[in-house]
Amino acid sequence: MAVSIRCVGSWYSSLLHALLLVVVVLPRLASGCDRCVHRTRAVYYTSSLTLTAGSCGYGNAAASFNAGGFLAAAGHALYRRGVGCGACFQVRCKDKKLCSTAGVRVVVTDRARTNRTGLVLSSPAFAAMARPGMAAPLTKLAAVDVEYKRVPCEYKHKNLSVRVDERSRGPNELAISFLYQGGQTDIVAVDVAQVGSSSWKFMTREHGPSWSISNAPPGPLQLRLVVTGGYDGKWIWADREVLPRRWRAGEVYDTGVQISDVAQEGCFTCDAHEWK
Ligand SMILES: *[C@@H]1O[C@H](CO)[C@@H](O)[C@H](O)[C@H]1NC(C)=O
Ligand SMILES: *[C@@H]1O[C@H](CO)[C@@H](O)[C@H](O)[C@H]1NC(C)=O
Repeated sequence: MAVSIRCVGSWYSSLLHALLLVVVVLPRLASGCDRCVHRTRAVYYTSSLTLTAGSCGYGNAAASFNAGGFLAAAGHALYRRGVGCGACFQVRCKDKKLCSTAGVRVVVTDRARTNRTGLVLSSPAFAAMARPGMAAPLTKLAAVDVEYKRVPCEYKHKNLSVRVDERSRGPNELAISFLYQGGQTDIVAVDVAQVGSSSWKFMTREHGPSWSISNAPPGPLQLRLVVTGGYDGKWIWADREVLPRRWRAGEVYDTGVQISDVAQEGCFTCDAHEWK
């Protein structure tokens, strides 16, 4: 009996996720268009501290996202109430004299506290848009017109990892944040189960990259997630042990998987002006 209830539970959870895919992903396909080239006026923070302590909650981990400290705070539309945390953007300024055509690749770690601009860059990222020798005159301009587009994140030497957030209280109160999310996807659902069990329980998005559950199964724990990928969604399984029996708040655990998918969208209105 208990077994069949579990089966129904996991079937129900799969159904729930199928519905989630329809409800969460499809409207996104219709409206959003990540890979379009957009224009905004970018400004920069004079202190990088603002971004590592940003509202995505990455804390010190943000410093390990790329070697240059190329981080950004996203305006309302890109931040998407935290779903945009961890997304990567290629940004270049349009002043041909001062700026390189490649621009800089940044990771979103914060919410911009203004609606006047789409992106607030860290000062190293702002300077990195410059041609060789032009960083000083560029940073003298406090704001510049830029083009940006979302691009896949690349973490060659890092697997998708989870940090157990400080407010977790073992064994049942579990909150995790995802770090090093490669590819160009959003995580739209997260399930957790004891290793070897098929009794998956869903976690709830708290904010941005943080998901929680108040009745976590006893460890060791495995995870599975649904990401936007291709034209709809895709399961990512980390079905080996991700969290040990006695997981610890503040620790970072490797999931052993990498996400490299890219969500495809119908971008008919923007495909005309590609990034050249
Ligand atoms: C930006 O605009 C959105 C929607 O129009 C609004 O909800 C938000 O509070 C604004 N943010 C700031 C910092 O003004
Ligand atoms: C990523 O996970 C695989 C196992 O799936 C492991 O072999 C590899 O060492 C991990 N990579 C890093 C950089 O930790």
